[in-house]
Amino acid sequence: MNSDIRVLLGERSYDIRVGPGLLAEAGEAIRPLLPSRRVFVVTDENLERLHLAKLRDSLDAAEIENHGVVLPAGEHTKSFAHLESLLDAMLEARCERGTTIIAFGGGVIGDLAGFAASILLRGVPFVQIPTTLLSQVDSSVGGKTGINTTQGKNLVGSFYQPRLVLADTEVLATLPERDLKSGYAEVVKYGLIDDPEFFSWLEANGAAMLAGDSAARAQAVRTSCAAKARVVSADEREGGRRALLNLGHTFAHALEAETGFGDLLTHGEAVSIGLVLAFELSARLGCCPSEDVGRLRRHLDALGLPVGLPALPDRPWRATQLAAHFAADKKVKDGRVTFVLAKGIGQAFLCDEVPPEVVAEVLERAVAAHRMSS
Ligand code: GLY
Repeated sequence: MNSDIRVLLGERSYDIRVGPGLLAEAGEAIRPLLPSRRVFVVTDENLERLHLAKLRDSLDAAEIENHGVVLPAGEHTKSFAHLESLLDAMLEARCERGTTIIAFGGGVIGDLAGFAASILLRGVPFVQIPTTLLSQVDSSVGGKTGINTTQGKNLVGSFYQPRLVLADTEVLATLPERDLKSGYAEVVKYGLIDDPEFFSWLEANGAAMLAGDSAARAQAVRTSCAAKARVVSADEREGGRRALLNLGHTFAHALEAETGFGDLLTHGEAVSIGLVLAFELSARLGCCPSEDVGRLRRHLDALGLPVGLPALPDRPWRATQLAAHFAADKKVKDGRVTFVLAKGIGQAFLCDEVPPEVVAEVLERAVAAHRMSS
């Protein structure tokens, strides 16, 4: 049942294991990869409460000496301050070049611990044990690590691949519904990029998956990881194809920036709206049939994901302010934004020649639709 997926990167190739119950087997799975029988586990307070004992028991059973640190949960942990205290804790625990760092948590823990592993003693091995849907299907695979700074999200970091990704889909049972739905937006993204059959499968099985169907969860995570593994194997450093994974994300980052990267809109919720806007932009440019935009909207809406702008507590939305955030996007080249567009469901492509006035129209329509509905 737990068939492995491989990320092919020469001698840095690694497996992604997906399935229910993998946490209890983590020690056995990790042991053959360890240069020495010592690991340092980085996790957060939520995981400490819910699942850390199971991981530690499995490491103990495999006779792996384990130390670790528990960090506060939440996006603010992805900071220079926490990076510094994490590196101090690793050095105080006498981590050596052969000590493997285990990132046990969601995207925040994976990104921070992976970055710390990439610079500690000029690089120590690390393993990802992602525990949220978003980190299982996206951030734990592909080696993007980093922290946030006052200038924006993920602006400081490195490409540093793990030695193994273990995605225990049973752990998703303790995930709050909002987090589960947020991660689901990234799952839908893979269908939209190049896998129309997967999108159809999600239309049929997405609701069961979100409701807790174990087989559907494992299949959705596995298909997503296989898609990501293919992209990363072909283009590790985002010279081309990997940029397709940013479908919906240029809009999403603008929405997140405008809502203060906070509780008002999670990253996944912003991606859900961003996917719809990317498809609307594609339709407006004449590349995508409007039926596909409608199909995408209906699917996300049916599962309770947002498809339109949320209410701001203190001011109206302004399309010009949203567009202003595009300039700060990491992917801007010579002042031009590269958008990921689609010719239809499962047919995404990159375009750096989108007229700004068409983008403005799409944003104006989203703002107008929100005004009408509130
Ligand atoms: N999350 C997008 C990427 O890993 O490239």
